[in-house]
Amino acid sequence: MSTIVILTGAGISAESGIETFRAETGLWAQHRVEDVATPEGFAKDPKLVVDFYNARRATAAAAQPNAAHRALARLEAEHDGEVLVVTQNVDDLHERGGSQNLIHMHGALNSALCAACDHRWPAPMTMAVGDACPSCGAAAARPDIVWFGEMPYQMDRIFETLGRCDVFAAIGTSGNVYPAAGFVAEAARAGAETVEINLERSAVGSQFDSARLGPATQTVTAWVDEILS
Ligand code: NAD
Ligand code: APR
Repeated sequence: MSTIVILTGAGISAESGIETFRAETGLWAQHRVEDVATPEGFAKDPKLVVDFYNARRATAAAAQPNAAHRALARLEAEHDGEVLVVTQNVDDLHERGGSQNLIHMHGALNSALCAACDHRWPAPMTMAVGDACPSCGAAAARPDIVWFGEMPYQMDRIFETLGRCDVFAAIGTSGNVYPAAGFVAEAARAGAETVEINLERSAVGSQFDSARLGPATQTVTAWVDEILS
Protein backbone atom coordinates (compact mmCIF):
# COMPACT_ATOMS: atom_id res chain seq x y z
CA MET A 1 0.00 0.00 0.00
CA SER A 2 2.27 2.79 -1.25
CA THR A 3 1.67 6.48 -0.51
CA ILE A 4 2.04 8.88 -3.42
CA VAL A 5 2.39 12.67 -2.99
CA ILE A 6 2.03 14.84 -6.08
CA LEU A 7 2.94 18.56 -6.11
CA THR A 8 1.45 20.51 -8.99
CA GLY A 9 2.15 23.99 -10.32
CA ALA A 10 0.83 26.27 -13.02
CA GLY A 11 2.16 23.99 -15.77
CA ILE A 12 -0.52 21.35 -15.18
CA SER A 13 -3.19 23.94 -16.07
CA ALA A 14 -1.30 25.45 -19.01
CA GLU A 15 -2.95 23.13 -21.59
CA SER A 16 -6.32 24.19 -20.19
CA GLY A 17 -5.49 27.71 -21.34
CA ILE A 18 -4.50 29.19 -17.96
CA GLU A 19 -1.21 31.06 -18.28
CA THR A 20 1.68 30.23 -15.98
CA PHE A 21 3.60 32.76 -13.88
CA ARG A 22 7.14 32.82 -15.20
CA ALA A 23 6.73 32.08 -18.89
CA GLU A 24 7.75 34.88 -21.27
CA THR A 25 4.14 36.07 -21.45
CA GLY A 26 3.20 34.79 -17.98
CA LEU A 27 1.37 36.55 -15.19
CA TRP A 28 4.53 37.99 -13.70
CA ALA A 29 5.41 39.53 -17.05
CA GLN A 30 2.10 41.42 -17.02
CA HIS A 31 1.80 42.33 -13.35
CA ARG A 32 4.31 43.19 -10.60
CA VAL A 33 4.25 40.51 -7.88
CA GLU A 34 4.58 43.26 -5.30
CA ASP A 35 1.44 44.98 -6.57
CA VAL A 36 -0.95 42.01 -6.82
CA ALA A 37 0.51 39.15 -4.75
CA THR A 38 1.63 40.66 -1.46
CA PRO A 39 -0.23 41.93 1.65
CA GLU A 40 1.46 45.30 1.10
CA GLY A 41 0.06 45.49 -2.43
CA PHE A 42 -3.43 44.72 -1.13
CA ALA A 43 -3.16 47.40 1.56
CA LYS A 44 -1.92 49.95 -0.97
CA ASP A 45 -4.53 49.32 -3.70
CA PRO A 46 -7.15 46.72 -2.70
CA LYS A 47 -9.24 47.34 -5.84
CA LEU A 48 -6.27 46.55 -8.14
CA VAL A 49 -5.74 43.25 -6.28
CA VAL A 50 -9.44 42.30 -6.10
CA ASP A 51 -9.83 43.05 -9.83
CA PHE A 52 -6.70 40.96 -10.60
CA TYR A 53 -8.19 37.93 -8.84
CA ASN A 54 -11.68 38.55 -10.33
CA ALA A 55 -10.04 38.31 -13.77
CA ARG A 56 -8.16 35.12 -12.78
CA ARG A 57 -11.40 33.63 -11.39
CA ALA A 58 -13.20 34.31 -14.67
CA THR A 59 -10.33 32.73 -16.66
CA ALA A 60 -10.36 29.64 -14.44
CA ALA A 61 -14.17 29.32 -14.64
CA ALA A 62 -13.97 29.33 -18.45
CA ALA A 63 -11.22 26.68 -18.50
CA GLN A 64 -11.76 22.92 -18.47
CA PRO A 65 -9.72 20.25 -16.66
CA ASN A 66 -7.32 18.52 -19.05
CA ALA A 67 -6.13 14.92 -19.40
CA ALA A 68 -3.43 15.47 -16.75
CA HIS A 69 -5.98 16.55 -14.11
CA ARG A 70 -8.18 13.60 -15.02
CA ALA A 71 -5.26 11.15 -14.89
CA LEU A 72 -4.45 12.21 -11.31
CA ALA A 73 -8.09 11.68 -10.33
CA ARG A 74 -7.99 8.19 -11.88
CA LEU A 75 -4.80 7.44 -9.94
CA GLU A 76 -6.50 8.48 -6.67
CA ALA A 77 -9.55 6.34 -7.47
CA GLU A 78 -7.69 3.19 -8.60
CA HIS A 79 -4.40 3.16 -6.65
CA ASP A 80 -4.55 0.85 -3.61
CA GLY A 81 -2.69 3.31 -1.37
CA GLU A 82 -3.07 7.02 -0.45
CA VAL A 83 -2.70 9.60 -3.23
CA LEU A 84 -2.40 13.22 -2.05
CA VAL A 85 -2.32 16.11 -4.53
CA VAL A 86 -0.75 19.31 -3.12
CA THR A 87 -1.33 22.13 -5.58
CA GLN A 88 0.21 25.59 -5.70
CA ASN A 89 -2.53 26.49 -8.16
CA VAL A 90 -5.54 28.52 -7.14
CA ASP A 91 -7.81 27.33 -9.97
CA ASP A 92 -10.34 24.51 -9.32
CA LEU A 93 -9.36 22.25 -12.22
CA HIS A 94 -8.15 19.43 -9.95
CA GLU A 95 -11.56 19.34 -8.20
CA ARG A 96 -13.44 19.53 -11.50
CA GLY A 97 -11.13 16.84 -12.88
CA GLY A 98 -12.20 14.52 -10.02
CA SER A 99 -9.44 14.80 -7.40
CA GLN A 100 -10.73 14.73 -3.81
CA ASN A 101 -7.67 14.22 -1.58
CA LEU A 102 -6.34 17.69 -2.41
CA ILE A 103 -4.62 20.58 -0.63
CA HIS A 104 -4.54 24.12 -2.05
CA MET A 105 -1.38 25.34 -0.29
CA HIS A 106 -1.64 28.81 -1.88
CA GLY A 107 -5.39 29.19 -1.38
CA ALA A 108 -8.16 29.13 -3.97
CA LEU A 109 -9.86 31.62 -6.26
CA ASN A 110 -13.28 30.16 -5.34
CA SER A 111 -12.80 30.97 -1.66
CA ALA A 112 -13.11 34.35 0.11
CA LEU A 113 -11.44 35.11 3.44
CA CYS A 114 -12.36 37.65 6.11
CA ALA A 115 -9.27 39.67 7.08
CA ALA A 116 -10.97 40.45 10.42
CA CYS A 117 -12.11 37.03 11.67
CA ASP A 118 -10.51 34.45 9.29
CA HIS A 119 -13.95 33.13 8.27
CA ARG A 120 -14.00 31.52 4.77
CA TRP A 121 -16.91 31.29 2.36
CA PRO A 122 -17.44 30.55 -1.34
CA ALA A 123 -16.22 33.62 -3.24
CA PRO A 124 -18.66 35.35 -5.60
CA MET A 125 -17.54 35.40 -9.22
CA THR A 126 -16.83 39.13 -8.79
CA MET A 127 -15.59 40.26 -5.41
CA ALA A 128 -15.64 43.94 -4.46
CA VAL A 129 -13.50 45.82 -1.97
CA GLY A 130 -15.44 46.16 1.29
CA ASP A 131 -17.64 43.09 0.75
CA ALA A 132 -19.07 42.15 4.12
CA CYS A 133 -18.03 38.97 5.92
CA PRO A 134 -21.14 36.74 6.32
CA SER A 135 -19.90 35.71 9.75
CA CYS A 136 -18.72 38.86 11.57
CA GLY A 137 -20.21 41.48 9.23
CA ALA A 138 -16.93 43.40 8.87
CA ALA A 139 -16.30 44.96 5.44
CA ALA A 140 -13.07 42.92 5.33
CA ALA A 141 -13.42 40.35 2.52
CA ARG A 142 -10.18 39.52 0.67
CA PRO A 143 -9.21 36.85 -1.86
CA ASP A 144 -8.37 33.61 0.01
CA ILE A 145 -4.94 33.55 -1.68
CA VAL A 146 -1.59 33.04 0.06
CA TRP A 147 0.52 36.04 -0.93
CA PHE A 148 4.29 36.34 -0.84
CA GLY A 149 5.37 36.67 2.74
CA GLU A 150 2.34 34.76 4.08
CA MET A 151 2.33 31.20 5.36
CA PRO A 152 1.08 28.55 2.93
CA TYR A 153 -1.84 26.41 4.14
CA GLN A 154 -1.79 22.95 5.75
CA MET A 155 1.98 22.71 5.93
CA ASP A 156 1.84 20.30 8.93
CA ARG A 157 -0.28 17.82 7.00
CA ILE A 158 1.91 18.21 3.90
CA PHE A 159 5.15 17.55 5.77
CA GLU A 160 3.59 14.64 7.72
CA THR A 161 2.60 12.96 4.44
CA LEU A 162 5.92 13.74 2.76
CA GLY A 163 7.67 12.10 5.73
CA ARG A 164 6.07 8.74 4.92
CA CYS A 165 5.59 8.81 1.16
CA ASP A 166 6.95 6.14 -1.20
CA VAL A 167 6.64 8.16 -4.41
CA PHE A 168 6.86 11.96 -4.91
CA ALA A 169 6.12 13.66 -8.22
CA ALA A 170 6.34 17.37 -9.05
CA ILE A 171 4.28 18.33 -12.09
CA GLY A 172 4.45 21.66 -13.94
CA THR A 173 6.28 23.74 -11.38
CA SER A 174 9.45 25.75 -11.94
CA GLY A 175 10.84 25.10 -8.46
CA ASN A 176 11.33 28.84 -7.87
CA VAL A 177 9.18 29.29 -4.78
CA TYR A 178 9.63 27.84 -1.31
CA PRO A 179 8.47 25.94 0.65
CA ALA A 180 7.02 23.95 -2.31
CA ALA A 181 10.43 23.77 -4.03
CA GLY A 182 11.83 22.06 -0.92
CA PHE A 183 9.31 19.18 -0.94
CA VAL A 184 11.48 16.95 -3.14
CA ALA A 185 14.28 17.06 -0.52
CA GLU A 186 11.78 16.13 2.22
CA ALA A 187 10.48 13.18 0.17
CA ALA A 188 14.02 12.01 -0.66
CA ARG A 189 14.89 12.11 3.06
CA ALA A 190 11.92 9.77 3.63
CA GLY A 191 13.37 7.40 1.03
CA ALA A 192 10.74 8.10 -1.62
CA GLU A 193 11.29 7.63 -5.33
CA THR A 194 11.10 11.15 -6.84
CA VAL A 195 10.12 12.11 -10.39
CA GLU A 196 9.90 15.49 -12.08
CA ILE A 197 7.26 15.89 -14.82
CA ASN A 198 7.68 19.11 -16.79
CA LEU A 199 8.46 20.58 -20.20
CA GLU A 200 12.03 21.13 -19.00
CA ARG A 201 14.11 20.56 -15.87
CA SER A 202 13.15 22.93 -13.05
CA ALA A 203 15.36 24.94 -10.70
CA VAL A 204 15.50 21.89 -8.40
CA GLY A 205 15.53 19.30 -11.21
CA SER A 206 18.86 17.81 -10.13
CA GLN A 207 17.29 16.67 -6.85
CA PHE A 208 14.91 14.22 -8.56
CA ASP A 209 15.70 10.55 -9.28
CA SER A 210 14.18 10.83 -12.75
CA ALA A 211 12.34 13.16 -15.12
CA ARG A 212 9.64 12.83 -17.75
CA LEU A 213 9.77 15.77 -20.13
CA GLY A 214 6.89 16.81 -22.36
CA PRO A 215 3.38 18.27 -22.14
CA ALA A 216 1.61 17.19 -18.93
CA THR A 217 -1.43 15.90 -20.82
CA GLN A 218 0.87 13.25 -22.33
CA THR A 219 3.52 12.67 -19.66
CA VAL A 220 1.16 12.53 -16.65
CA THR A 221 -1.24 10.19 -18.44
CA ALA A 222 1.62 7.82 -19.36
CA TRP A 223 3.05 7.95 -15.83
CA VAL A 224 -0.34 7.12 -14.25
CA ASP A 225 -0.94 4.30 -16.77
CA GLU A 226 2.41 2.78 -15.77
CA ILE A 227 1.69 2.99 -12.02
CA LEU A 228 -1.75 1.40 -12.44
CA SER A 229 -0.60 -1.32 -14.84
P1 NAD B 1 9.16 33.59 -2.13
O1 NAD B 1 10.15 33.06 -1.16
O2 NAD B 1 8.84 32.77 -3.29
O3 NAD B 1 9.60 35.02 -2.64
C1 NAD B 1 10.56 35.74 -1.86
C2 NAD B 1 10.28 37.16 -2.15
O4 NAD B 1 10.47 37.37 -3.57
C3 NAD B 1 8.84 37.50 -1.83
O5 NAD B 1 8.81 38.48 -0.82
C4 NAD B 1 8.31 38.00 -3.15
O6 NAD B 1 7.53 39.18 -2.97
C5 NAD B 1 9.58 38.39 -3.92
N1 NAD B 1 9.36 38.39 -5.36
C6 NAD B 1 9.36 39.50 -6.10
N2 NAD B 1 9.15 39.26 -7.38
C7 NAD B 1 9.00 37.91 -7.47
C8 NAD B 1 8.74 37.01 -8.55
N3 NAD B 1 8.59 37.47 -9.81
N4 NAD B 1 8.65 35.69 -8.29
C9 NAD B 1 8.82 35.25 -7.02
N5 NAD B 1 9.07 36.03 -5.95
C10 NAD B 1 9.14 37.35 -6.20
O7 NAD B 1 7.82 34.00 -1.42
P2 NAD B 1 7.40 33.72 0.02
O8 NAD B 1 7.39 34.99 0.80
O9 NAD B 1 8.17 32.57 0.58
O10 NAD B 1 5.88 33.28 -0.30
C11 NAD B 1 5.13 32.65 0.70
C12 NAD B 1 4.18 31.77 -0.02
O11 NAD B 1 3.19 32.54 -0.77
C13 NAD B 1 4.87 30.90 -1.05
O12 NAD B 1 4.39 29.57 -0.94
C14 NAD B 1 4.40 31.52 -2.36
O13 NAD B 1 4.37 30.58 -3.42
C15 NAD B 1 3.00 31.95 -2.03
N6 NAD B 1 2.50 32.85 -3.05
C16 NAD B 1 1.28 32.62 -3.68
C17 NAD B 1 0.85 33.45 -4.70
C18 NAD B 1 -0.43 33.18 -5.43
O14 NAD B 1 -0.79 33.94 -6.34
N7 NAD B 1 -1.09 32.08 -5.08
C19 NAD B 1 1.60 34.55 -5.09
C20 NAD B 1 2.80 34.76 -4.44
C21 NAD B 1 3.24 33.91 -3.44
N1 APR C 1 3.26 20.59 -19.19
C1 APR C 1 4.14 20.46 -18.16
N2 APR C 1 4.78 21.52 -17.59
C2 APR C 1 4.54 22.72 -18.10
C3 APR C 1 3.63 22.94 -19.17
C4 APR C 1 2.98 21.80 -19.72
N3 APR C 1 2.12 21.89 -20.74
N4 APR C 1 3.62 24.27 -19.46
C5 APR C 1 4.47 24.86 -18.59
N5 APR C 1 5.03 23.94 -17.79
C6 APR C 1 6.00 24.17 -16.70
C7 APR C 1 7.10 25.17 -17.01
O1 APR C 1 8.20 24.51 -17.62
C8 APR C 1 7.44 25.68 -15.60
O2 APR C 1 8.43 24.86 -15.02
O3 APR C 1 5.27 24.73 -15.64
C9 APR C 1 6.14 25.52 -14.82
C10 APR C 1 5.46 26.85 -14.51
O4 APR C 1 6.29 27.54 -13.61
P1 APR C 1 5.77 28.90 -12.93
O5 APR C 1 5.15 29.76 -13.97
O6 APR C 1 6.88 29.42 -12.10
O7 APR C 1 4.56 28.41 -11.98
P2 APR C 1 4.70 27.72 -10.57
O8 APR C 1 5.93 26.86 -10.49
O9 APR C 1 3.38 27.08 -10.32
O10 APR C 1 4.86 28.98 -9.55
C11 APR C 1 4.90 28.64 -8.15
O11 APR C 1 4.93 30.96 -7.54
O12 APR C 1 4.14 33.08 -7.93
C12 APR C 1 4.04 31.98 -7.12
O13 APR C 1 2.23 31.27 -5.85
C13 APR C 1 2.67 31.43 -7.18
O14 APR C 1 1.93 29.16 -7.12
C14 APR C 1 2.84 30.05 -7.76
C15 APR C 1 4.26 29.73 -7.36
